[in-house]
Amino acid sequence: MTTQRDPEDLFEGGSDRAAYVRQMFGEISHRYDLVNRVMTVGQDQSWRRLAASQIVRPGDTVLDAGTGTGDLAFACLDAGASRVVGIDVAGPMLEQARAKSQKRRVDEVSGFSLGDATRLPLPDASVDAWCSAFVVRNIPDLPAAFSEAYRVLKPGGRLAVLEIPRMEPGLLRPFARIHFRHVVPRIGRAITGHSSAYRYLPVSVDHFLAPRELTELLRETGFVVTQVRMLMFRTVAMHVAVKPDLGAPRVGATPTTDE
Ligand SMILES: C[S@@+](CC[C@H](N)C(=O)[O-])C[C@H]1O[C@@H](n2cnc3c(N)ncnc32)[C@H](O)[C@@H]1O
Repeated sequence: MTTQRDPEDLFEGGSDRAAYVRQMFGEISHRYDLVNRVMTVGQDQSWRRLAASQIVRPGDTVLDAGTGTGDLAFACLDAGASRVVGIDVAGPMLEQARAKSQKRRVDEVSGFSLGDATRLPLPDASVDAWCSAFVVRNIPDLPAAFSEAYRVLKPGGRLAVLEIPRMEPGLLRPFARIHFRHVVPRIGRAITGHSSAYRYLPVSVDHFLAPRELTELLRETGFVVTQVRMLMFRTVAMHVAVKPDLGAPRVGATPTTDE
């Protein structure tokens, strides 16, 4: 069990954060959705629907990286995708996703399968859209994950990232810190019985990128960032980007951003 780990240790050089993340999500999978609903006061599903609506077009093939219990994959299907591949490193999270998929009687999800966002089991230029919700903060080699997203997207393909970014100094930061450092760990522990998972969350946020830095990393990977939208009192960021189609005529796009 990972329950006793001190989350700060995971950010020391040489620690295996990826292994901790995989095992920890496996341990909390049965209560993961419930914590999300309680922690976000029921808002989290609307963010996934928003992200899906920005990138999915009817008939698309979509990759949901770090699909977990599958909610973003289902939002993509509801937005019109005809095929969604959901991959995750944690088997028990995928079992929850498969159970939901059976309840919904959807066969369009072409598979929830084990896979790592930094080594996608897909050919080059094979998907129309790539998305992830609350995953990239947990990936130690994030440039590798974005390079993989770029590789598997078709030219003109779209990307959406939902994440809890590191908060820049401002009026809201002290309140957000109290929420993430004191409220979230208590709710998480009460519901899952796991003492480190929801202490890891605020620590991982503090070690993550601010929205502007995430935009920069996407640009360095080759993406054109078209939208940055801050949600839930600026505690959640949605980045939307496009892989340029270098063969297509240039269209002047002005990014919308509230970074
Ligand atoms: C906070 S959960 C998010 C799950 C889901 N996307 C959602 O919207 O609720 C993070 C998920 O990312 C998965 N994950 C972490 N690192 C990953 C990686 N390198 N490749 C694939 N999945 C990963 C974890 O196993 C976990 O299921």
